[in-house]
Order: sequence, then C-alpha cells, then structure tokens
Amino acid sequence: MNKIKIRINDIVCRGEKGQTVLEIAKDNGIYIPTLCNYEGIKPQGSCRICTCMIGGRMMTACTTPALDGMDIVTNSDELEKFRATIVELLFAEGNHFCPTCERSGNCELQALGYRYKMMVPQFPYSFAAKDIDADNPKIMIDHNRCILCKRCIRRKKEKDNPNWFVFKKRGAKVQINIDHELTADFTDKLAQQAMDTCPVGAIIRKEKGFDVPIGERKYDKNPIGSDIEGLKE
Ligand code: FES
Repeated sequence: MNKIKIRINDIVCRGEKGQTVLEIAKDNGIYIPTLCNYEGIKPQGSCRICTCMIGGRMMTACTTPALDGMDIVTNSDELEKFRATIVELLFAEGNHFCPTCERSGNCELQALGYRYKMMVPQFPYSFAAKDIDADNPKIMIDHNRCILCKRCIRRKKEKDNPNWFVFKKRGAKVQINIDHELTADFTDKLAQQAMDTCPVGAIIRKEKGFDVPIGERKYDKNPIGSDIEGLKE
C-alpha cells in the first residue's frame, strides 16, 4: 500500500509514500513558497521559506516526508508573517536592485517580495561590499544578489555536466564561485541551464539577460505559485 492521505488546510490530499509534504501539496493544487528547493535537486531545507505547521510543529515542507494521516497548515497568519520576515531579511542582507537586474520579472525572490507586499524591510540594509566575477565569456556571478540557496552547487551532476560552481571561504563569508577551468568552454545552452537553476539574478548568462523584455516575463504576468495546476488558494 503506497497510497497515503494527509490533510492540508483541512483539505484531504492524496499522495504516495516517499513523497514530501511539499510534493503532495503541489500535486493537490496547494502552493507553498520555496526558494532553496528546485525540482530534480535533493532538498536541503536551508531557506526555511516553506515552513508549515506539521503535526503542530514548524517544519520545512520540502524536507519532511509525508506520513499517512498527517495534519498540515500551510497558510496561517503566523506562517505568512514568518515567511515575509525571511524575504525581508534576504533583501536587507544582499544588494538587490531589482529595476536594473536582468532577472527582474523572472526572479523568485522579487516575486515573493510582491507576494508579501514588501515595501521596505523592517531590518537595516547591510550594504555589504560584494564583488562580481565576470571573467567567464558566457556567464557571470554577482555576489550582491546571491542568496546562498546553493541550488547551482547541488544540482544534479552528469558526465558532461559536472559541478560548475564551487564554495569559496567559510562561515558568514562563504561565497559561490564559478569553476573557471570547468566552464572555460561553456556553451550558450549550458550557460542558460546554469542561469535557470539560480532563483535570483546571481548567475547571469552574458548578453542574453534581457532577451525577454521586462514586462513580459513569468512573474510580470502572473504571481508566483499561480502556475500550480488546480490551485486552491
Ligand atoms: Fe524548503 Fe527552502 S524551500 S527550506
């Protein structure tokens, strides 16, 4: 018996053993915000934006396996406030200047800022001095925009697709850097793949960042999460 039933926001949702709470919610038309999670990459539960009340405790939906009979709340005021605070912290901690960013309109962080109606973060901006690595002919990485979700490093590696990014420094100073040796012969296709893995505008494919004009991009047209089939929000 691999089928299980759980309750999400008082709706009975069906899924299978081995699925996470996030996966079952999505399959049943319930949106839970995510940032560090990306389909096809093992979840790591670092950004905490998908936190839900699972069996009365705050837990990340992307890493919690669903168990038959579980009771889950995804959308209480407390949870939405908690998520809005995470978004505000990320904006305060990085240097995110959306109007000039190539990912504007396609950025998951910006889209969550709109979702939570963020105007000015309640925290002071850190304005930390961060650099940009633009030495590669096809891609660049802008550390000002990186939220350290590590999706680029955690993505599935294949033979022709090794890890193009590496950690540099440790602790609070940790940085994601381009492996210049492995990306020396980067094609446009691989550069696009790297850019797509990034939820924000940290990894940018050179000269192509504005291919789709601002105003016609994914989240310019529809809010984040609205692409979920049969959305029940
Ligand atoms: Fe679940 Fe980041 S999406 S912790």
